[in-house]
Amino acid sequence: MLEQKEHFHGSDLEKIEKVYNIKKEDIISFSANVNPLGVSPLLRKTLADKIDVITSYPDREYTSLRQSIASYCMCDADNILVGNGCTELISLFIQITAPKKTLLLGPTYSEYERDLKLQGSEIDYYMLNENDNFKLDVDNFKSNITTDTDLIIICNPNNPTGGCVSRENLSTLLSHCKETNTYMMIDETYVEFAENINEISAIPLCKEYDNLMVLRGTSKFFAAPGLRLGYAITGNKNLLNDINSNKNPWMINSLAVVAGETMFMDTEYILATRKLMTKERSRLTRIFEESGKFKVYPSNSNFLLLKILDSSVSSHELFEKAIRENMMIRDCSTFPGFGDRFIRLCFMKKEDNDRLVACLLS
Ligand SMILES: Cc1ncc(COP(=O)(O)O)c(C=O)c1O
Repeated sequence: MLEQKEHFHGSDLEKIEKVYNIKKEDIISFSANVNPLGVSPLLRKTLADKIDVITSYPDREYTSLRQSIASYCMCDADNILVGNGCTELISLFIQITAPKKTLLLGPTYSEYERDLKLQGSEIDYYMLNENDNFKLDVDNFKSNITTDTDLIIICNPNNPTGGCVSRENLSTLLSHCKETNTYMMIDETYVEFAENINEISAIPLCKEYDNLMVLRGTSKFFAAPGLRLGYAITGNKNLLNDINSNKNPWMINSLAVVAGETMFMDTEYILATRKLMTKERSRLTRIFEESGKFKVYPSNSNFLLLKILDSSVSSHELFEKAIRENMMIRDCSTFPGFGDRFIRLCFMKKEDNDRLVACLLS
């Protein structure tokens, strides 16, 4: 075992390569939450054929890309902004709305906190409770949103717990937020993996509530984290204008434009991904539950959060056990409140999942 504990995030393959002396190409990442089917076949062919697009500047308005996103998300193209991954849109939204006080639904993805700190926002966490399977008590959460709260951020489904808040409950919260003059940012990076996406996604609520911005990316579901293509939807015209006048003219490159116009149309790939995820989610949930070694939290995403039941085994030890077999899982000890009891793993192809199960249960 290593003398000093190192902490690795989902995409830290270069760091792993150095510390454990394993070539990054040989590592199966169960921690990056990226679709194991790889790039959409339609996208692979189209990008190669259209390489010459890089000889021109992209359309500043990204009209055709926004139309492709609008058809995919069934929303109005005028309400869409595109950005360099969901990450850039999170930063822009926080910069423009400049919240003095933000309430985060935690434990959650750490980038929100980083951006809020840069903006000087006061940050409060409303922590989901492990004993309730990290399920949100909507009324209790609502009572914590006051006229002092400028922004609430919800990751839905949430990373790392995997659970979700229903659209109905989001609507209840948004009505309350209208009264308290509070913005809501919902990060839907993982929503397309959910079986019940139509009961979760908040995009249809953008028509009704102008205090809402929904963010999406292509890094996870479309296996394209290197492309850096994200988008945001809001019905708030003032917010759209403010962001548009503050952003760089070309946030997305020409290849990402072609990619976006193509990938959302690859229905075969989209359906194959959803089918694989649904199957592996229920299969692995059952296997880990039946093992008696882990507590499994209900997931609406492409990953599972597991609590280690054997108190003599830590999340770091399991991380090391798996990485010695070239499989990288997420040791969740860097998430506030999690201690050394939790790991997160995403669903890869069946044979890889079986290998990880054998390793973790041995
Ligand atoms: C919840 C969440 N939001 C956003 C991102 C980053 O997305 P993008 O690659 O689109 O910038 C991640 C990456 O892990 C994530 O887990």
